[in-house]
Amino acid sequence: MEYRRLGETDVQVSLIGLGTMTWGEQNTESEAHEQIAYALDQGVTLIDAAEMYPVPPRPETQGSTERYIGTWIAQNRAMRDKIVLATKIAGPARQPHNPRHIRGEGNQFDRKNLTEALNDSLKRLQTDYVDLYQLHWPDRSTMTFGRPAYPWIDDAYTVPIEETLSVLAEFVKEGKIRHIGVSNETPWGVAQFLRASEKLGLPRIVSIQNPYSLVNRTFEAGLSEFSHREHVGLLAYSPLAFGWLSGKYEGGARPAGARITLFERFQRYSKPQSVQAITRYVELAKRHGLSPAQFALAFVNSRPFVTSNLIGATSLDQLKENIASAAVKLSPEVLAEIDALHELQPNPAP
Ligand SMILES: NC(=O)c1ccc[n+]([C@@H]2O[C@H](COP(=O)([O-])OP(=O)(O)OC[C@H]3O[C@@H](n4cnc5c(N)ncnc54)[C@H](OP(=O)(O)O)[C@@H]3O)[C@@H](O)[C@H]2O)c1
Repeated sequence: MEYRRLGETDVQVSLIGLGTMTWGEQNTESEAHEQIAYALDQGVTLIDAAEMYPVPPRPETQGSTERYIGTWIAQNRAMRDKIVLATKIAGPARQPHNPRHIRGEGNQFDRKNLTEALNDSLKRLQTDYVDLYQLHWPDRSTMTFGRPAYPWIDDAYTVPIEETLSVLAEFVKEGKIRHIGVSNETPWGVAQFLRASEKLGLPRIVSIQNPYSLVNRTFEAGLSEFSHREHVGLLAYSPLAFGWLSGKYEGGARPAGARITLFERFQRYSKPQSVQAITRYVELAKRHGLSPAQFALAFVNSRPFVTSNLIGATSLDQLKENIASAAVKLSPEVLAEIDALHELQPNPAP
């Protein structure tokens, strides 16, 4: 396993990070524990959770993912400081698919919500601290979760970034969180966080968790430069475009028990132009004798701006295949063929 530095911290994280958002919906507690044990054995150190998980978000299941991680920590106390535990606070429900059941409609990044959310996460996780505490999506309306263009909405109220960061800085001082990260952020948002740190002498954000895959390379336009020059690295989510890039949905197939078969909610990568591009990448992988899933993950792993590639798996076989992608290196010729397809059809699933 390869390790990369988390922002400007002294923390090294595994290039493959363990996503958890199926635990409590498609995966049971014992399956979650099996996944953690296997991943750690392979050198994975980063585990990424959220107070909102599992997905699809439902009031009845909310918090189960963190609870499962918590029972694992309780049974493996000596391992707590060997893992880099990341979780997230859910933001306000400004878009239809944002959940409204977590602390109600006014769920913004103010002192009250941040305190309540963190304390509840710590309780569920059965730990005194979180290594990386992330804001799941911005407090304000902006381009998130597949919105193709900036929405230009004047929100009635948003919590100033300086205020949010000041509260998070107190959590760092108290030892409840080690580092701060953002998610589903834009270049403007990242710049605001960095400016607030400089102006007020507060901790810098260390990471940005955004989508990144063969069919969504939007990070490269405005954010990769922040990763390069400011050391705010990418924790890449949905590297298989919800499983599509494994090739298992080719020709309209809908395998039993798989995310796209099960849940109507997950449409982000299902548009015709996305499906068409996916077919091209799957064909390219096969032409080079590679498993399409490992090919897609190896592409993400190859990016210099990626700190960790957050994989997701609903079975141990998938987990094994995905973690093993860390050893797959794509040749310059293959990377050039990928770029040619990208130019032909850039970001079909933003
Ligand atoms: N910050 C955010 O807003 C955000 C959003 C999304 C995800 N995330 C994070 O990123 C992690 C990964 O996201 P994701 O689950 O969307 O990633 P993904 O890699 O795009 O999709 C993972 C899913 O694809 C299928 N799959 C995985 N490996 C496979 C293989 N080798 N062959 C065939 N199918 C395979 C599995 O679903 P099926 O078995 O059901 O097909 C698995 O759950 C999450 O757990 C979470 O920690 C964060």
